[in-house]
Amino acid sequence: TADMDDISTQLQKLGLSQPPVFPGVQLFPQYNPVDVYRGYIIEQINRITSVEPSIINNAVAWTQDLKHGDLVLPVPALRLKGKKPDELAVEIANQFDCPIIEKPVADKTFVRFFFKPAPLAHLALRYALSQKTAYGFNPSLGLHDPSNPESGKKKLIVEYSSPNIAKEFHTGHLRSTIIGGFMVKLYSAAGWDTVSMNYLGDWGKQYGMLSQGFEKYGSEAELERDPIKHLNEVYVKINQDNAAEQKEAKRLAEKKDELEKLKNPPKPKKPAKGEAPPPEPKWTDEQERELQDVTAQLEKVQEDLVQKPSIDEKARRFFKRMSDGDQEALKYWQKFRDLSIEAYTHMYARLNIAFDDYSGESTVKQEDMDRAAEVLEKRGISEDSKGAVIVDLSKHGAPKLGKTLVRKKDGTSLYLTRDIAANYERYEKYHFDKMIYIVASQQDVHMAQFFKILELMGPPYSDVIAKCENISFGMVKDPHGQTMSTRKGTVVSLADSLDAAHEAMHEVMKKNADKYEQVQDPEATADTLAISAIMVQDYSGKMINNYNFDMDRMTSFEGDTGPYLQYSHARVCSMERKAAVPRHELENADYSLITAKEGIELVRALAQWPDVFLNTYKTREPVTVLTYLFKMTHLLSSCYDAKDTSNKNAKTMSVMYAESPEKKAALMALYDAARQVLANGMRLLGLKPVERM
Ligand code: ARG
Repeated sequence: TADMDDISTQLQKLGLSQPPVFPGVQLFPQYNPVDVYRGYIIEQINRITSVEPSIINNAVAWTQDLKHGDLVLPVPALRLKGKKPDELAVEIANQFDCPIIEKPVADKTFVRFFFKPAPLAHLALRYALSQKTAYGFNPSLGLHDPSNPESGKKKLIVEYSSPNIAKEFHTGHLRSTIIGGFMVKLYSAAGWDTVSMNYLGDWGKQYGMLSQGFEKYGSEAELERDPIKHLNEVYVKINQDNAAEQKEAKRLAEKKDELEKLKNPPKPKKPAKGEAPPPEPKWTDEQERELQDVTAQLEKVQEDLVQKPSIDEKARRFFKRMSDGDQEALKYWQKFRDLSIEAYTHMYARLNIAFDDYSGESTVKQEDMDRAAEVLEKRGISEDSKGAVIVDLSKHGAPKLGKTLVRKKDGTSLYLTRDIAANYERYEKYHFDKMIYIVASQQDVHMAQFFKILELMGPPYSDVIAKCENISFGMVKDPHGQTMSTRKGTVVSLADSLDAAHEAMHEVMKKNADKYEQVQDPEATADTLAISAIMVQDYSGKMINNYNFDMDRMTSFEGDTGPYLQYSHARVCSMERKAAVPRHELENADYSLITAKEGIELVRALAQWPDVFLNTYKTREPVTVLTYLFKMTHLLSSCYDAKDTSNKNAKTMSVMYAESPEKKAALMALYDAARQVLANGMRLLGLKPVERM
């Protein structure tokens, strides 16, 4: 590739030939400057110790902190018998010879490698400046054979977000959306062919409920205006009615029970000798009247329930009709679904996300559920239980997963049944190499049951589920670490929290009137900042951990927040506008003029970015990227303040006060490379880097 020619030219200037490659060792010098170094290190250590290249490659690791080296070799990992590791470390350090690496440091059983600053700057900055938005990413990883570009991309389905149409789009769905969006970006950057799939909760008895509710409380106009909100309101109201109905029946039954106990009290125990017998319980005429009254009321309620079915029963029947394809029953449902998807699409666009496939529980075909049910029965996995069908997983080697219903008495399906059938349907549609489900940890049991059942079903089902993975994530709590609940009024809807964060960011922007005037579309920028705030907060810990949704903290510019990342990016952009160094000068600058230790540290950090990407591809934790970006931006900001040791007043890394045009170009190239890496990292996380704020 052209890139590789360029790199070879750079190396030739440094007196080196092509970066070494070894059969069976996956190095990507075309994407990763550190892999150029790995090549030379492997070559040298192989020469000194005769250990196989692949073993050396696995042994060489990167460091947590640059003060421990750019790369490190723990000598025992070479698995050489007969030699003391600390002696071998000294031997390797002494015999090592590579013009772009300092003489290695033997430190007990470690050999530490420090890359020489000037050649590193020449290499790493070139990668960043020439590969631009592609720098750091490695599109070979997703190929069927990473060493053969002709081998074709592997296909990945990520199922995420998956809200329920009637219910609120809550923070759990938001997390699934954010994490899923990240997975898609990560795998695409690694060269996979990805499909974003939304599996809507758009089927089940609750749609019988919702349709009834809409008849009673719905408004076509409201539905058109804000379908998500309106359907949720309707759903809440009809559920309240349902609860009230059931509560009344329960109250009467309890009252009757109580009165009957009073009427026929349990026989008193025989009094002990010498003790007075307990007084006869009194049963008044008035109580008798009350009992008759309550009994009559209860009978009426029960009779009503038979003649006029409860809301719950009606919902069940309604859903049965929907399942049977009754057009009349389906008419609302289709409309609810279409309008909701339209509204979701808008909201996802704000988050930088677009779905390729809106599937849903409703799209799972009856025949596929029937087919799965047949397999379950034939293979003795399911059993009959009072007319319903269950699977008792404790009988199939999974005692913790217990019993679970797969078919109701009336023949209708369940959430679980639909997941089972959908899994294979998706394979038939996409022939994926991998599928990831991003689902909240509250559903771990459900997911484990559904995976286990498909595994028990045998091929082809078990082959497909073997390609699948469930990535689960923790809960979002309120700022005090308490569980959010609708009852407590602490559940924040996505729309509300986006709006609140938007307001907060807009207020901050307005404080600097001069800058504010320069921002082209302040509303859009405030929105981008708000979304960055929310996303970065979400990414700040491991996915499986819970976190507290804290508006004040996430919208702050202090500390490791989304607004801080955006600020760092906008600051470099502003510097670039002022300095106005032409692009070709950046690309051809003499990077050896970057001599301040802060600048060298930043170069070293920028060289690490492709390795950070690679590591993120392994951990699949957005926090891996985020931690690096914050570390890098801190190094960047220490460059702005760097002072010359000989002249305490001069800012040695200031572009505006650079002592020569050459120095200015070199510094600006470094800052531009940093901006590029920051932007690439932010985009990988799904953030839109802003140029002004
Ligand atoms: N709609 C579900 C909910 O909101 C999440 C769906 C998760 N995905 C799945 N295949 N079960 O709870």
